[in-house]
Amino acid sequence: MSTILSIENIDTFYGQSHVLHGLSLEVKPGEIVSLLGRNGSGKTTTMRSVTGMTPPRAGQIFYLGGKISGWPPHQIFRAGAHLVPQGRRIFPQLTVIENLKLAMFQSGVRDERAALQETYKLFSRLEERKNFKAGHLSGGERQMLAIARALLGKPQLILFDEPSEGLAPMVVKEIRDIIVQLGQQGVSILLAEQNVKMALTAATRHYVIDKGQVRFTGTTAEIEQNEEVESYLGVSTRR
Ligand SMILES: Nc1ncnc2c1ncn2[C@@H]1O[C@H](COP(=O)(O)OP(=O)(O)OP(=O)(O)O)[C@@H](O)[C@H]1O
Ligand SMILES: [Mg+2]
Repeated sequence: MSTILSIENIDTFYGQSHVLHGLSLEVKPGEIVSLLGRNGSGKTTTMRSVTGMTPPRAGQIFYLGGKISGWPPHQIFRAGAHLVPQGRRIFPQLTVIENLKLAMFQSGVRDERAALQETYKLFSRLEERKNFKAGHLSGGERQMLAIARALLGKPQLILFDEPSEGLAPMVVKEIRDIIVQLGQQGVSILLAEQNVKMALTAATRHYVIDKGQVRFTGTTAEIEQNEEVESYLGVSTRR
């Protein structure tokens, strides 16, 4: 199998509103690929299309070689494609450990103790905060909790929706390092970002989208050399 995820020419709508127009992209095994675009360009909608929350009306999506467009979200989740949603949706009234246990239940984890140990190995901060209400965590800790929840299901593909949003630069680096580390462990990653610098250092290939269409695709070096890309992103792509 040469691709983990293959989005082929999808059109996605919210009611009458046509948001994605013939969008195609690919993630190969172990690759970190970024999806770059301004506010409202269609990043979240692309992720919702993959996870089945807003299924495309035309085009096809393949995951691990099989067609998943048309599958309900829980089936796509069970197949191992997990989303870390924008705004790091966690349960603020529940403690860290309760949030983790809920995710274990959703992912059908049997050995809770082993899974917790594994989580704390990667995120020692979450162990320190395990009895804190999630609503009292810092932005970076909340992002870690959201990532930890997604990892409990042992995904082969993780879709990160703007993980750096609203985080201080130091914390963005920490989250970036975690994403890179997951990539090194063989997890394939699609990373939606408005933080171009973060995406260019975390991912090796990039898709620049605008108004629901791919405008440019290439490696980090190719992005940095292309002047047109800056006009789609509204920021400098040079380091
Ligand atoms: N639930 C919805 N109903 C109708 N239109 C929507 C809905 N969600 C998003 N849209 C519209 O779809 C377009 C793409 O939105 P999307 O959320 O995919 O963009 P995005 O790239 O994720 O933006 P951001 O960086 O702000 O998260 C926008 O024009 C947006 O207004
Ligand atoms: Mg979004």
